[in-house]
Amino acid sequence: MGNVLMERRAAALLNKLMENINGWSCIAPVSGWRSEQEQRDIWNNSMRESGGVFTRQYVAVPGCSEHQTGLAIDLGLYSSEMDFIRPEFPNTGICQMFRRHAAKYGFVERYPADKDCVTGIAHEPWHFRYVGAPHAEIMEKLGLVLEEYHIMLKNYVYGTRTFKYD
Ligand code: DAL
Ligand code: ZN
Repeated sequence: MGNVLMERRAAALLNKLMENINGWSCIAPVSGWRSEQEQRDIWNNSMRESGGVFTRQYVAVPGCSEHQTGLAIDLGLYSSEMDFIRPEFPNTGICQMFRRHAAKYGFVERYPADKDCVTGIAHEPWHFRYVGAPHAEIMEKLGLVLEEYHIMLKNYVYGTRTFKYD
């Protein structure tokens, strides 16, 4: 992935997925792991260039970005003018093929259109988060974002209730 970094296991599974669909031929890794300082620079630049409303919608507060965990990746269709904050990742073609396979490899589309009131972030069709198996497939099947899935898991305190997934 060039100089875009990710946590080792997440990177290995992302590469596996991409190999399966020949994704790296058309899809670029735009942004992976970020230090807190990098996130701060992105935040400050975005504030300066695009203002507070836009920035709070599309950039996590420094210290709170999941890019800082190394488990998130922004992906974009290769083009001559790729946007760093909001890369193109349409619901068609190779990008949609990636989306269809993502959960099998432990990735979820982290910020869906209809969940901004739960996540606090606007629709980001380019941002994927590694949550691992079987969580990604359960989340997809139940239509839950990570915040909602955490709440669900808390209802299954070990030894009290069972959750069956097949
Ligand atoms: N764009 C996402 C929300 C981030 O900055 O972590
Ligand atoms: Zn992102």
